Amino acid sequence: MPAIAQHNPAVARAIYLDHFNLREAPFTLTPNTGFFFGGGERGAVLDALEYASLNTEGVITMTGEVGTGKTMLSRMLIERKPRNLEVVYIANPALTRDEIIHIIASELRMRNLDTLRPVQILKNLQKRLIDLHGKGKRVLLLIDEAHVMSPETLEEIRLLSNLETNHHKLLRIMLVGQDELNRTLASSQMRPLRERITERFPLGALSVSEVAHYLAFRMRRAGGNPDLFDGKAAVLIANASGGITRRINILAEKALLAAYSAEAESVQLHHVEAAARETKFTRLRGERTLWWNPRTWSLSVLNLWRDRRQNDTRSPLQNGRTTSNMAPAPSLGKHRASPA
Ligand SMILES: Nc1ncnc2c1ncn2[C@@H]1O[C@H](COP(=O)(O)OP(=O)(O)O)[C@@H](O)[C@H]1O
Ligand SMILES: [Mg+2]
Repeated sequence: MPAIAQHNPAVARAIYLDHFNLREAPFTLTPNTGFFFGGGERGAVLDALEYASLNTEGVITMTGEVGTGKTMLSRMLIERKPRNLEVVYIANPALTRDEIIHIIASELRMRNLDTLRPVQILKNLQKRLIDLHGKGKRVLLLIDEAHVMSPETLEEIRLLSNLETNHHKLLRIMLVGQDELNRTLASSQMRPLRERITERFPLGALSVSEVAHYLAFRMRRAGGNPDLFDGKAAVLIANASGGITRRINILAEKALLAAYSAEAESVQLHHVEAAARETKFTRLRGERTLWWNPRTWSLSVLNLWRDRRQNDTRSPLQNGRTTSNMAPAPSLGKHRASPA
């Protein structure tokens, strides 16, 4: 690899794209919806989120470790633009209640907000919500990174969910955050909000075979060879990442670079070993397998090999489709993605 590329990941990336005939980088860390992978139940969760947003009057939560794909799913929900649903997305949980109300009002195209006092904005917002409800429109307030919110702000958000007509709640609320959110919600102070939660979506890690499908899917989407990662390399990425998509992307990108530096035609086990050596992840809560555990590792290779053989006789792979044709009808309630 040229010296400049060694110290400059962006340059190295530009060069390896060419080497592997890729249209674009397959493993970037931004939640780019063009790369949405519907496997690992993500597609089914997306369908269920959409259904819940339209049909429940309670509060919805989506929680999971950092990097499991919560923001990606939130963006997919917004991008789908379900008919009859307006989504107000708040990515900054440090906002005050009045600022949040201001954002909702502005997103719902209310005018002259700067001339009104907060209490007046709230009153007008209620009228606007009633008006939209009358037209069959539902409004979802989606708060990302909600685990950072203080219990006091969460309580104020709950009070917003009390905006109602005689028969219906006017504002649906979805709280998206890391697992700490569940701990905050478990406190006795949060009981009123907890009792309003009707749907919970805990997002888990991908299993070993789902990781292999994920790698193939993202490679294909980037215009490259879906089989570039060989089976053992994929299993090691699965184990070293714990099945967390963000970590998979970090390892896969580094392994691609290692393979490119060695002028290899595919990504093999030793390229992932090199990538894993220079990547330090903190251990996840409840994590059972460490990537160097030889027993679980060879079992995983065996399972993946079986899975690939089955898929060969069942092609094409279902993987990566956004769902309506792969998932059962969305069901509400506790919805688990597969554990690692
Ligand atoms: N369903 C998915 N399909 C494709 N890539 C995903 C998916 N979920 C997550 N990712 C990738 O994993 C990374 C982390 O996802 P993100 O949504 O930011 O996680 P979180 O919000 O849970 O911390 C992103 O870079 C994104 O590219
Ligand atoms: Mg996020």
